[in-house]
Amino acid sequence: MISMRNIVLVGFMGTGKSTVGRQLAQLLNWNFIDTDNEIEERTNMTINDIFQIHGESRFRSEERLVVQSVSQQENVVIATGGGTIINPLNWEDLNRDGFVIELYAALEDIIVRVGSNRDRPLLKGSEEGIKKLWSERQKYYGQAQYKIDTTGKNVDQVVAEIQHLLGG
Ligand code: S3P
Repeated sequence: MISMRNIVLVGFMGTGKSTVGRQLAQLLNWNFIDTDNEIEERTNMTINDIFQIHGESRFRSEERLVVQSVSQQENVVIATGGGTIINPLNWEDLNRDGFVIELYAALEDIIVRVGSNRDRPLLKGSEEGIKKLWSERQKYYGQAQYKIDTTGKNVDQVVAEIQHLLGG
């Protein structure tokens, strides 16, 4: 396997970063960190409540603190939130020694996957709004060295593709 410190999953909401990351970590026997979960634990609030009560800027500050801390660790699989790498400082930290993989999917697939999920404050708007956000985000996700299309694939298939990428 390629020598590396961390494996970092980036990509839009609903591309499977957390589910895939958790399973990959289990297989590698590495720790798994989901930045959103970490934020919820540290603040003792849900992501929804942070957005509603304190606003997105507070969420982004908490997210920045979590990234600073997790990027100091080694041999962890990190599932980021869909907006984490918009902050260039987060990108720098995560990319420094990590193997960054973008998970992506057709927007139609994403809309179906996240359609009934109420836990994502940024998806509460119209389908048009989601499309706009998705388009604006592509340039950031495009920075990842590796990309995996998850459209129509199950978790096992995506994890197997990542293992293949890692040479395992
Ligand atoms: C966000 C994505 C969410 C969460 C927050 C903001 C975004 O994470 O961090 O709601 O800006 O795209 P997931 O990508 O895990 O849904």
